Amino acid sequence: MSMPTTPSAPTDRWWEELPAGRNRLVGRAHLHSDAPELSLDGTWDFRYGTRADGTDLGAPAPIEVPGLWQLQGHGAPQYTNVVYPIPMDVPHVPDENPTGHYSRAVTVPAEWTSAREDGARILLRFQGVDSAAKVWIDDAEIGVTSGSRLTQEFDVTEALAAEGEHRLDVRVVQWSVNTYVEDQDMWWASGIFRSVDLLLRPVGGIHDLITHADFDPATGQGTLTASAYGTGGELVPATVRIPALCLEAAADGSEIAAGEVAPWSAESPTLYEATVSTDTETVTLKLGFRRVEVDGEIFRVNGERIVFRGVNRHEADPVVGRTQHLENQDLDVGLMKQHNLNAVRTSHYPPHQRFLEVCDEVGLYVICEGDFETHGFHVDSTWGEDATGAPQRPAADDRFRETLCERSSRFVRRDRNHASIVMWSIGNESSTGPVTEAMIQAVRDTDPTRPVIYEQDYRAQTVDVFSLMYPTHDESEQIGKRALTDEYREKLVGMLEHLGVDAGEEGFGSDEQPMPALSKPFLWIEFAHAMGNGAGSLKEYMDLVHRYPALHGGFIWEWIDHGLVTTDAEGNEIYGYGGDFGERLHDGNFVADGLVLPDRTPSPALLDAKHHYSPVGLEVGERAATLVNRYAFRDLSGLRAEVSVDAQSTWQELDLPDLAPGQSAEVALPEGEHASVTVRLLTREADGPVPAGHEIVAASHVDAERLAAALAPAGSGAVAPVQAADGTWQVGPARLDDLGRLVGLGELEVEHAGADLYRAPVDNERARTRYPLEARWKRIGLDGARRRLLGIEADGDALVVRSRVGLDGNALGADVTERWTADADAAEVAVIVTPVEFWPEDLPLPRIGWTFALPAAPDQVEYEGFGPHESYPDTGGGTTFALRTASVEELQVPYVFPQENGNRAGVVRAVLRGGTGAEGVELTAPEGLGLAVRPWSTAELDARAHDGALRTDGRTWVTLSAALHGVGSAACGPEPLPEYVLTAREESFRFRLAPTRG
Ligand code: GAL
Repeated sequence: MSMPTTPSAPTDRWWEELPAGRNRLVGRAHLHSDAPELSLDGTWDFRYGTRADGTDLGAPAPIEVPGLWQLQGHGAPQYTNVVYPIPMDVPHVPDENPTGHYSRAVTVPAEWTSAREDGARILLRFQGVDSAAKVWIDDAEIGVTSGSRLTQEFDVTEALAAEGEHRLDVRVVQWSVNTYVEDQDMWWASGIFRSVDLLLRPVGGIHDLITHADFDPATGQGTLTASAYGTGGELVPATVRIPALCLEAAADGSEIAAGEVAPWSAESPTLYEATVSTDTETVTLKLGFRRVEVDGEIFRVNGERIVFRGVNRHEADPVVGRTQHLENQDLDVGLMKQHNLNAVRTSHYPPHQRFLEVCDEVGLYVICEGDFETHGFHVDSTWGEDATGAPQRPAADDRFRETLCERSSRFVRRDRNHASIVMWSIGNESSTGPVTEAMIQAVRDTDPTRPVIYEQDYRAQTVDVFSLMYPTHDESEQIGKRALTDEYREKLVGMLEHLGVDAGEEGFGSDEQPMPALSKPFLWIEFAHAMGNGAGSLKEYMDLVHRYPALHGGFIWEWIDHGLVTTDAEGNEIYGYGGDFGERLHDGNFVADGLVLPDRTPSPALLDAKHHYSPVGLEVGERAATLVNRYAFRDLSGLRAEVSVDAQSTWQELDLPDLAPGQSAEVALPEGEHASVTVRLLTREADGPVPAGHEIVAASHVDAERLAAALAPAGSGAVAPVQAADGTWQVGPARLDDLGRLVGLGELEVEHAGADLYRAPVDNERARTRYPLEARWKRIGLDGARRRLLGIEADGDALVVRSRVGLDGNALGADVTERWTADADAAEVAVIVTPVEFWPEDLPLPRIGWTFALPAAPDQVEYEGFGPHESYPDTGGGTTFALRTASVEELQVPYVFPQENGNRAGVVRAVLRGGTGAEGVELTAPEGLGLAVRPWSTAELDARAHDGALRTDGRTWVTLSAALHGVGSAACGPEPLPEYVLTAREESFRFRLAPTRG
């Protein structure tokens, strides 16, 4: 195939034009039709250059469509969160502009000939091209796209009129005027990343379709309106049919009584197969009857208050990035449903249309968001102003009005037939002004049936639902109580000013004159920032939702880590983040902050969310379990319950009370003196992606005294410590060197044993966070504490070792007393850690614990405690008490950026074993301690920047924690709540160590 000459004159700067886009057809619904379609996906020719005018394009190479060229060997992805990767020079972009010129041959199928002769049109449809493209057929300009995540169509009937092969050219530029309004927190990557098709549009066909399927909860009756439109926006004669309802009526916009229907909700997503036909075309769709209402401060679906147990979802894949494998849509929705999520916000653009179909089918409430973010304008108050100092952010810049309003109506037009969409959002973090007000109006005009939300309208003056991102628990409670403190009002006014919006006299209202926001439903558009280990205190957020009806839950930030598969300089396979692709400007690993790891493995945060999002509240006490039905519509007949009183080795059926939504009850538990009791609720039958027998929620109660009593040593008789001639000590099976450090246990060697005040910082503690503890911990040398022996003395049957943990360059530290006792089988150590009195009050300790390493490298761990996933003081929802076995590898969480992980809470007993016959260790901690077992040291975990770069040193590292600092969510949210802050304090704990064989 011959390659194109240069089809555009360099003077045609189409990529900087406002209004953006040329010749595009008005947006319309994405319909499944029996009219012919031809997919143009596959291998195209591709030439890469750095000039939008195409004058330096390189040699042709094959490329896959859909796909991003940076992930197919051309250029490199770049990650920035807020800041623009190009100079802010609206509407211009730099001369150096990564450009991909795509070409392929197109032949109109012979079967289309007669329809064409009858006047059928041919449309060329692009479902996603980042960030702008000019399209030619046979060197004649067809048009220009605008809106990377928006479907764009061109009428190419005339261009393809001649028989035979045609050449389609698509020149895609990375930077364009669109870049200024698409500054989402994700990879900058470009290309034709969603499908391309040719559509044959029959004369008299259904060009567009608007349906509205309403459900009246008072009567149980459904009402349908369906309007079928032709290309000119005129109604076309069409018939809508729903066979299951024996419904057949004109699709002319008039109200059709559908009779008694089963309503659609996320809990019971009943859909009705429907067709709409003209003489020449039939489209099929699935309709859900439901009513969405804002009723004062309550958001209702089908008459009931809804709680959004949601998550923000970007489209990400570790190999193809924003390009979406079709199976990712089903996979994500399936995982969400299995983990009790009921809602998703399509942050920050409309998703692949298949995702919405799956949400309809499987049942998720969707906030569908437009492709709009201009966050880079508010990073620095000197930016984005014109010569007079007037804000030039797009929200207040009239040059963008037409383009942005068109964007807003385009995505609503594509998606308005989806039952799952219960609200529209115009976009994210773009401040407010006349332009965003017009965008909200454009959404309302395009679909008057759904509420509109836009977080940046902090006072909810133009939107139906009030929302904020990352308020603290206390601030959220004030919103729930509908009474803000002056301090919080001032903070909110400051936030408005940061957006360049004058708060005016009224500011954020007063007690006498409350803002409209406080009379509307509230939700967290983003909260519980799930970066790395965390987010903490999801429980306390959901407690507020259960207490204050105006609080409707929210959307965890975010679904998936956007790490991309790559290799580091040493050749390790890693998940790359900002900076791993040679970017000069980047935001590091802030792109990895999801509930699932890049390969979609659930992170412990998803399991924690599953628990706190459970539709049935479950608390287990000594004698009874308390259940609360938190479904909006369902009773508990779809679930059954089981109870175990012996650390989950056997289960017995437990009668579940018949609870209507909102009701709660206590269920008696089996009588007896049990040390632990666990209750779990399971599904009776498979329900979409949720299988039968799937655990919805589980919880345990442990009786600490009974557990401790059961673990008391058999008492083979105390043995006194013995000192050898070289100054070392033997205390039962434990060997301590002359400095009082444990160096052996039976035949096992032990290394690096002693009190431990440190843990590798988590993402929420790093430099870019609001409370960068890592720097403070490292400045005082906590990561390299040194020990000095103060004294060793025998005290009856005990050996008392006193030491001091000191920190380089300062006088901070702690005194440590270890009291060793033993019988013939086991040694016990009682540890008291006393931080210096002048430890700064505002500086939490990472940990108070005890660590040792075993060079024999046992790799199997049997433990009795809370699991199966990790717990920190403010996480670990869904962990239950049981005896479990895991490999050391299974006890690690491969967070993209290495950090503290893997702590199992309340462990009373653990056995670490190697291969057959190898020596092992039995640990007993009758009062329960945190246990982490790793194939590497904390120093290794602290030193590496990628999970794939972590290397074992051949040892097995064991850390017992008496206290840990909470993980919070300060990477983009609050620090740990006061009750989870580990302030420097004296801590006492004890445990036994016994060598074992086999
Ligand atoms: C929010 C933003 C999200 C994401 C998050 C931090 O401010 O809306 O897009 O950047 O912060 O991960």
